Order: sequence, then C-alpha cells, then structure tokens
Amino acid sequence: MAKLFDVAVIGAGPGGYVAAIRCAQLGLNTVCIDEWKNSEGTPSLGGTCLNVGCIPSKALLESSENYERAAKKFSEHGIKLENLSIDAPAMIARKNKIVKAFTSGITMLFKKNKITSMHGRGTLLDRQNENQLWNIQVSNGDQSEVIQAEFVILATGSIPRPLPLAEINNDSILDNVGALALSEIPKRLGVIGAGVIGLEMGSVWRRLGSEVTILEAQPNFLPSADESVAKEAQKVFTRELGLVIQTGVNINAIKQNKQQISITYTDSNKESQKLEVDKLVVAIGRVPNSKNLASDTNNLSVNAQGFVEVDAYCRTNLPNVFAVGDVVRGPMLAHKASEEGVAVAELIDSVKKQVGSNDFLPKVDLNVVPWVIYTSPEIAWAGKTEQSLKAENIPYKAGQFPFMANGRARALGETHGFIKILAHAETDRILGVHMIGPFVSELIAEAVVAMEFKASSEDLARIIHAHPSLSEVLHEAALGVDKRALHI
Ligand code: FAD
Ligand code: NAI
Repeated sequence: MAKLFDVAVIGAGPGGYVAAIRCAQLGLNTVCIDEWKNSEGTPSLGGTCLNVGCIPSKALLESSENYERAAKKFSEHGIKLENLSIDAPAMIARKNKIVKAFTSGITMLFKKNKITSMHGRGTLLDRQNENQLWNIQVSNGDQSEVIQAEFVILATGSIPRPLPLAEINNDSILDNVGALALSEIPKRLGVIGAGVIGLEMGSVWRRLGSEVTILEAQPNFLPSADESVAKEAQKVFTRELGLVIQTGVNINAIKQNKQQISITYTDSNKESQKLEVDKLVVAIGRVPNSKNLASDTNNLSVNAQGFVEVDAYCRTNLPNVFAVGDVVRGPMLAHKASEEGVAVAELIDSVKKQVGSNDFLPKVDLNVVPWVIYTSPEIAWAGKTEQSLKAENIPYKAGQFPFMANGRARALGETHGFIKILAHAETDRILGVHMIGPFVSELIAEAVVAMEFKASSEDLARIIHAHPSLSEVLHEAALGVDKRALHI
C-alpha cells in the first residue's frame, strides 16, 4: 500500500520547509520531498537559500567587510595591523560551517515536528477520483515509489537563468554556486548582470582584492530601486568600492582559453569592446523550476515563463494543489516564499477542518515585501518608488534625511546614504520607504511594520526613537515629510 499523508510538500527551500513545519504544527501528517545534494553528494535541506543563496552569501559578505575594515578603517581608530592577509580557504570553510549548521538544523526541525523527509525527485501524477488523493512519484536514482496525499504544496524554487553564450562549469564560468565557492581570489573578475547577485558577489571579491567589472544590459543601474537610491549606490560602488559598472551593454561572444575568458560586447555608445578576466560570474536573473514537475496528464497550469499559475491564495488550477515561493509570481525572495508557505498551511488546515469563511482566507500582501541588497552601504526598500508614484499620478510628499547627520552613523564611520519616506500628499499614509546606508536591512523592518499598520508619516514622526541610534534617521525623514526635520 502507498504511504498516505495529509500534505505532501515538494521542495525543502524556505517556501517548502516552512510550509511543512506549519502544516505539522497544525497537526497535519506531512511529508516533504527534496532532491538537493550538496557538493559532497549528501542530501541537504534548505533549498537555494540555505545551501547556495542567502546564508552563504551573507557569510562571505561579512568576511570581506571585516577584511576591508581591518585594511582601510582600523587605522583611524588607532588600531594598527601589520602584514594583513586573507586566507580564502579559511573564509570558505567558515561559510560552509554556517551552511551545514543551518541545513542540518532543518533536519532537526523536521524530526522535532514529526515531518517525514524523503530524498528524491517529486513528480505530481494524477488524482484518484474514488478517494480524491493525489499520487506523487518520488524517484531517487534507481529507486522509485508512489506516495499519496490529500493536499500538495509545490515549492520547487528557481534556477539561474542561462546565458546561451556562456556555459557554466563552476570552475571558470560561474553561477551563484561557483561564485560562493572560489577558494582563490581571482585577479580579474567579470560579472554579467548588475542585479542583486552581481552586486553582492562583486562586492565580496572586490573587497578581497579582485578587479571587478560588471556588464549590465539595462541602460539604467538598479531600475527596480528608487532612482535616488540607485544613483547614490552607483556613486559609492564605483568611487569608493572600485567596482567598474558598465550599463547598456550587449554581450556578443564569450571565449575561453586556458589562461583567461574573453568577453566581446557592444557598449552603450555602440562601440565594440573586449574584456579579459580570470573568472566570470553570470547572474542575469533566475527562472522558475517547474520543468517535469507534473505529469502531462494532470494539466497543471504553467505560464510561458515557467511560473506555476496561482491566484492570490497560492491555489493552482488543480484542486487541493498549491504552489509557493520562487516557482510562482512575485519577488523571488526567501521571506516571501516562507510567508506564502505559512499562509497555504493555514488555508489547508481551515479547508480540512471546514472552519473559516471565504472572506478571511489567509494570504500574503505582496505590496509590502521588504527588499534588501546586502552591499555596503546596504540598500533596502518597501512599497512604491518615487518614479512609480509619478508614473501612476499619485500625489505624494517626500522627507529625506542623510546618515551623515546622524551621531551613531558618524561613530560607526558609515556615513554614506539616506532614508527617504514617501507619503500620500492628502492622507499622509506612507506609500514607500527607501534606504541606503548602514544596517538598513534592520531599519527597514520598522518601515514595514508602519506600512502594514497603514501608518502615516506623522505616526512615525511622533514615536520616540533611541538616541544615538541609526533609527533616528528614519524618524528625521518622517519629520522631513512635514518639513520639520530637526538636525538638518
Ligand atoms: P528554493 O530555495 O529554490 O528551494 C527549492 C527546493 O526544491 C530545492 O531544494 C530544490 O532542489 C527542490 N526541488 C526542485 N524541484 C524538485 C522536485 N521536482 N522534487 C524534489 N525537490 C525539488 N533571498 C532573500 O530573501 N534574501 C537573500 O539575502 C537572498 N540571497 C540570495 C543569494 C543568492 C546567491 C541566491 C541565488 C538567491 C538569494 N535569495 C535571497 C533568493 C532566495 O534564495 C530564494 O528566493 C528562495 O530560496 C526561494 O525559496 P523556495 O523555497 O521557493 O525555493
Ligand atoms: P536580478 O534580476 O537581480 O539581476 C539580473 C540583472 O542581469 C538585471 O539587472 C538584468 O538587466 C541583467 N541582465 C539580464 N540579461 C543580461 C544580459 N544578457 N547581459 C547583461 N545583463 C543582463 O537577478 P540575479 O542578480 O541573478 O538574482 C536573482 C534573484 O535572486 C534576484 O532577483 C533576487 O530575487 C534573488 N536574490 C536576492 C538577494 C537578496 O534578497 N539580497 C540576493 C541575491 C539574489
């Protein structure tokens, strides 16, 4: 007899493993199927985020920032260092240790919550009419079995968008997996794509000594960020950090010989250029991982870009089948995936227990998802940008305050950047908050809370913020919306 579950989750990234935990907390008999293996060939839970994404990238960013502080900033504190050097293999080993701690932590959480964990590739087959159960095939090498579940959550994530001219070998031409595992610092590093991965990884290796050139197809730098933030970021990343960023390029050819990789491209002036590098990172976006996820016969609806089609509640076109995270529309972010996982688990629970009404189905508000780019200075935002408010003809007022005028930022020696609040011109409701500066990955949380509670800029302006703290910059920006910032 086939193993029988209330819920089968396919994929154990932040969408799938969190959905599985929440299902189990709600008393649902849950299985989570995942096919990921680490570089040693061992199954490793946590998906892209824990294995080759959020966690390892932040570990390397921290190491490289510490190195740069020691090299460039310690002396002004009177701290003297001689013969400073970086041991790249030790840095990679530290990163691997952090990844291992987190991925094995998921195994522990599954055990604690009595979630059945199956290693292998899951494929959604058909639903049996007589008992309304979905069949799911789990294949692992030569072995294959079919299990059954009443509800299914698809959480298979995303994979790097391929660039036909560049074949990834993760030795010289790298995607995120290779870029996070370099054990030597390349003298010259090329990056295709000035998006989030390109900037984060480019920063790491630049700080450790590589000459980094980033080639970006779009004419504008970071077009999804607020224009003023993108402008400040480009200035700091090029002038202070030393990244070479070329926008508006068209890659024509990539050739590799034993010594180097040659990239021929047309620049923004339509002139032909050649870049020679020792390693090349390709980071031109990610695509949903939905190929062969479902058998042809069940007609799971997948759109032309490969996204599994879902409604606002993450319901697919198939009964009792849901999809969350990178494999569906919306930002490809770990926290978005996890919140969708929680919402779907609670929806399944209410359907199963036949409680709740259609008016109160749990869902995720995609309008207030915080974005963070972990460069230095960090970039963070939530809500509308100034350019989108203009395009939509929404009347707004803005308040902006620089970190330069903040005591804590001065003490830290991190004075680049600012916080900008955009509020509706008539109602004063906060519509967008944009930050570039130290620790804005943490500061954005206050803005998100305010926006979820539909706060006005006046609400933030009347809240006491500790002194001296970086959060005072947000406070002053809120005062600035009403033109009464105090320290500028
Ligand atoms: P994934 O994490 O991709 O997990 C999907 C899992 O499903 C994988 O384990 C995969 O092997 C498995 N799978 C796929 N198909 C099958 C199948 N048929 N059967 C069984 N298993 C299957 N986001 C942030 O919010 N913050 C960050 O700082 C951040 N940094 C990032 C850095 C990098 C370098 C990268 C690449 C991404 C980063 N992201 C970050 C994005 C984040 O990793 C993703 O948004 C997140 O992992 C998506 O979660 P998910 O559960 O949808 O999918
Ligand atoms: P991205 O979408 O952020 O950036 C890709 C960039 O490549 C874009 O600027 C695009 O214009 C450019 N590009 C596309 N085709 C190109 C070409 N042929 N030549 C040159 N440039 C080209 O994607 P990225 O950086 O690969 O990251 C994927 C996703 O992973 C992100 O969108 C984000 O969702 C997630 N992520 C999140 C992080 C975070 O939250 N801090 C960190 C890293 C990744």
